Amino acid sequence: AIHLIGHKLAERSAGHSPTLFDRRRWSNTLLDWCIKDETFKVQLFRFIDVLPSLRTDDQIAQLAGEYFSKETLAGPIQWGLRAISATKLGSRLSAKSLRQQVSQMAKTFIAGTTIGEALPALRGLWTEGRSFSVDLLGEATVSEKEADQYRDRCLEALAVLEKGTATWPAAPLPEQDHFGSVPRVHLSVKLSALYSQLDPIDPESSFRAVSSRLRPILDRALSLPAAITFDMEQAELKDLTLMIFMRLLAEDQYRSYPHVGIAIQAYLTESADDLDKLLHWVRQRGAPITIRLVKGAYWDSDMIRYQQRGWPVPVFRSKPETDVNYEALSRRLIEQADLIRPAFGTHNLRSLAHAEATAQAAGLPSHAYEYQMIFGMAEPLQEAVAATGRRVRMYTPVGEFIPGMAYLVRRLLENTSNESFLRKEYAESVPLDLLLAPPHILTRSPAGSGGPRPQGTDCVRPGQARLDEAFVNEPHTDFSKAPA
Ligand code: 2OP
Repeated sequence: AIHLIGHKLAERSAGHSPTLFDRRRWSNTLLDWCIKDETFKVQLFRFIDVLPSLRTDDQIAQLAGEYFSKETLAGPIQWGLRAISATKLGSRLSAKSLRQQVSQMAKTFIAGTTIGEALPALRGLWTEGRSFSVDLLGEATVSEKEADQYRDRCLEALAVLEKGTATWPAAPLPEQDHFGSVPRVHLSVKLSALYSQLDPIDPESSFRAVSSRLRPILDRALSLPAAITFDMEQAELKDLTLMIFMRLLAEDQYRSYPHVGIAIQAYLTESADDLDKLLHWVRQRGAPITIRLVKGAYWDSDMIRYQQRGWPVPVFRSKPETDVNYEALSRRLIEQADLIRPAFGTHNLRSLAHAEATAQAAGLPSHAYEYQMIFGMAEPLQEAVAATGRRVRMYTPVGEFIPGMAYLVRRLLENTSNESFLRKEYAESVPLDLLLAPPHILTRSPAGSGGPRPQGTDCVRPGQARLDEAFVNEPHTDFSKAPA
């Protein structure tokens, strides 16, 4: 069944490429070079990080010359960038083209700088059978003023979206599911945008600050109604986010509201346990929630940070382990569809076909679950899935380039990673049957999360140190873990 579904969807999307991988525009672009050359990719991401603060073309050209030096680049890329700093005119052209290409990539993933600007795109998607969840760019606020502004932007977005979508034509599939009506307006929020000091070391203040900014947003959502989904972010914030979600939505005024949701990241080794806790809580609460199952977008940074701190890494080290877990969690969501709205967030044809086949085998009506994909990614798959009469919701970022930078880099990492399904499908043309094959775990490491023990667990005790042994610091405490 998985193969059949996968082949049908692939046939429907045949001949189309996602904007990002469109060959007519793609070859010899920054993304193309990123896939060909790992060093270039790292340098490009560093360069994208500083680009918004560069004011003149000369500055861009000078920095580009430093970031993309002859020593670090492979032949064809060097050739492509050779104009940089060669002549004054050449450097201007290259700077312009670099700036243009980066902002073109940003435009692929960001629907507009304001909701008003994004509305035509959202309406266009709606008429083609796709609904939306708007994400206001602005994670990781650094001041309380900024967090207040973020709350106000959410409130304003809800108002503009309500007005803007009121005249859209009625559409049964996006607006009805097994629990009743589904709101048109859907907002995804990142808790790190709502409190500048969000930190697992202080769960009480974190709860107080985040919930005091979320309550007005929830109150407005209840009155429209609009759906609100809590995004998941880096691993340290996972338990805190779950706690805030469960505690706030059990409050009297919200406990029966069915249009709230939260993401679960299948790359986390704890995700199956978290899902069980969440399901247990939903049973007690007595009203449905949406669970958006994703693989997770913070793998690279979580790996680096946890290793750097000497903590056991919280993610599966290999992609197939995550894919296997995603399938197991998909089954669990489908089994629990009388309690929850399952939402499968994936662009992976195999993962999606597996969820679809499992739902069909369980006899779940097709309006009882939905697929979620990201604006600007895998458009042919979005279209094909919508055309088969399934609810498809587009995660749609709205906002400025600078607050959107981290988001853009996550999307670029996702599309260019060696493990990226989209890269395999669209850039490397891996045969369909291989793409649809079950994920295999080649090396299963101890306790699932596996691999070598993190640095620091073998630390030398006072009095035991030998001069020929390397000194290793004792890791700091991970305050995101509750005491056992
Ligand atoms: C992210 O911001 C899509 O929520 C996900 O990367």
